[in-house]
Amino acid sequence: MRRKLAAGNWKMNGTQASLAELAAMQTAVTDAVDVLICPPATLVATAAAQSGDIAIGGQDCHANVSGAHTGDISADMLKDAGAGYVLTGHSERRTDHSESDADVAAKSKAVWDAGLIAVVCIGETLEERESGETLRVIGRQLAESIPDGASAANTVVAYEPVWAIGTGKVPTPELIAEVHDFMRAELTKRFGAEIANGTRLLYGGSVKASNAVEIFATSNVDGALVGGASLKAADFNPIIEALS
Ligand code: G3P
Repeated sequence: MRRKLAAGNWKMNGTQASLAELAAMQTAVTDAVDVLICPPATLVATAAAQSGDIAIGGQDCHANVSGAHTGDISADMLKDAGAGYVLTGHSERRTDHSESDADVAAKSKAVWDAGLIAVVCIGETLEERESGETLRVIGRQLAESIPDGASAANTVVAYEPVWAIGTGKVPTPELIAEVHDFMRAELTKRFGAEIANGTRLLYGGSVKASNAVEIFATSNVDGALVGGASLKAADFNPIIEALS
């Protein structure tokens, strides 16, 4: 049985004052759902110290444990700060920092080596969707961004169509189901049914309270990775509740 996961990615938003929102989100948490917030790195330690049943995650990490990498942060450091998860391969990292599938795989491995859970993000661009390349791209990203050794305990996969992020455009439930069913099948081929059936598949891209119920009723959707609507408890709590 896969536990539902409501995950929030605060991206480059949030200061100490934002932790009041985290406190307000705790009121929506129930035993029925896992909740994760990935604040900016500056807030991980403070958030983790006061997040109660809400898990805290990093938004990215370096593939190495330590060393001369100015401005970077390792999975071990995130663990030390209290994180339980790390996002890898978010499309904004792939675009803004030219991260390749191989980079994402190396980072995901580093997350596992630190004993944390990797939330591996994949998704097609609008151009790829319009040229009928979606499943080919998703298949390649799944194969090349997730290293050997994935398990239901160390990996979550987030499908985030790039064209749906922050745009208010959401694929139809049929389109989401097509990709999520495909991902489950690809994971089954590679890792076997037990691992594939235990691995949580999140949908991300303009999820909000008004569309959460429909998205969560979609085949093979085990939760959401939410951006803008995870910044305020008033927006995120109904999403948590829709999963509960
Ligand atoms: O990682 C979450 C994300 O990229 C989706 O952002 O603002 O469309 O919910 P948003």
